[in-house]
Amino acid sequence: MIGATESDVAIIGVGAAIPERILTNAEISQRVETDDAWIRERTGIAERRIARDDQTVTDLAIIAARQAIERADIAPAEIDLILTATASPERSFPSISALVADDIGAHSAGAIDMLAACAGFAYALGHAIAQINSGMATTVMVIGAEVLSRITDWDDRGTCILFGDGAGAIIVRKGAAPTSEKVVVELGVDGSKGFDLYGDLTPRNGEPLDKCIRMNGNAVYRFATQVIVESAKRVLEVGGYTQDDIDLFVPHQANLRIIESGVERLGFPSERVVITLDKYGNTSSASIPLCLDYAWRTGRLQPGQRLMMMGLGGGLAWGTVMIRWMGAPA
Ligand code: UT7
Repeated sequence: MIGATESDVAIIGVGAAIPERILTNAEISQRVETDDAWIRERTGIAERRIARDDQTVTDLAIIAARQAIERADIAPAEIDLILTATASPERSFPSISALVADDIGAHSAGAIDMLAACAGFAYALGHAIAQINSGMATTVMVIGAEVLSRITDWDDRGTCILFGDGAGAIIVRKGAAPTSEKVVVELGVDGSKGFDLYGDLTPRNGEPLDKCIRMNGNAVYRFATQVIVESAKRVLEVGGYTQDDIDLFVPHQANLRIIESGVERLGFPSERVVITLDKYGNTSSASIPLCLDYAWRTGRLQPGQRLMMMGLGGGLAWGTVMIRWMGAPA
């Protein structure tokens, strides 16, 4: 589905949880047959962050949520809804969002977790915008939080080089943009390719549970390079925008080659593209908010800028959102 609505909704703050522990390519190559040069050249990743053993995905979400509230300068009671995207929940329920709501004191908020793997954050943001535009909510917190290190097969060199842990949170608010303009959301999925990238939560076929991420890397690569261009073009067209209207493009951080081939074909100059995968690897639903946090801290996010954010992966699903950033400068 794709839709553009005239709206003054905008993002007013971002927070992040970036685990301290750095896992380098060299360390991974001590366990599986790979090396730093191969990983950098084929993926663009130099290192990734790993959560402490005693740190849960909810702990990371809470750190990011608290920081987002502080930077957006809002009271927790103003939050109407909390949506957390994750592909690595610690349990089915209570939801991460429920525990975040309790921790931060968002006592009037509804709370639900959403699972659309690497597209999860874009899906959650799309739903946040829909709730605001329908009049149901004024202020929504959207979180992407992952501990992918706990569902990674550290003996599979085709996947273990890619993933990392982290969380990011944003605050989306009605009336934050100076004027109404087209806010565009595309949410898509091709379930026929679902088992090119999957992770089980309960046993299948009476076999012991394999909780690790399994991926047909080449198939997902082909899907990603196609979708990144096609979805961006559709979103621009439906909103009546051109490439020049995008101040910052925030693509899913899975593989630098996918991003580079996409932005080249789209004609986006590289200085308008946010990259963090060299530092954080692929953090699935946390990729986009971690990029926003990085862009904000490094002064690249300025009030009024138009962002195009795109998540893609397991499903195989994708989500692309075009919305303004109205947070205060760092
Ligand atoms: O977040 C969800 C979205 N996910 C993605 O978008 C991931 C998409 N896929 C990818 O990024 C890439 O497919 C990978 C990075 C996973 C793999 O890169 P590739 O360039 O597609 O490698 P490949 O699977 O085609 O393998 C090429 C060669 C093979 O050797 P042979 O058969 O040519 O002798 C592999 O066995 O590279 C070998 N190989 C490795 N060598 C060193 C595969 N993994 C590694 C490794 N280190 N870690």
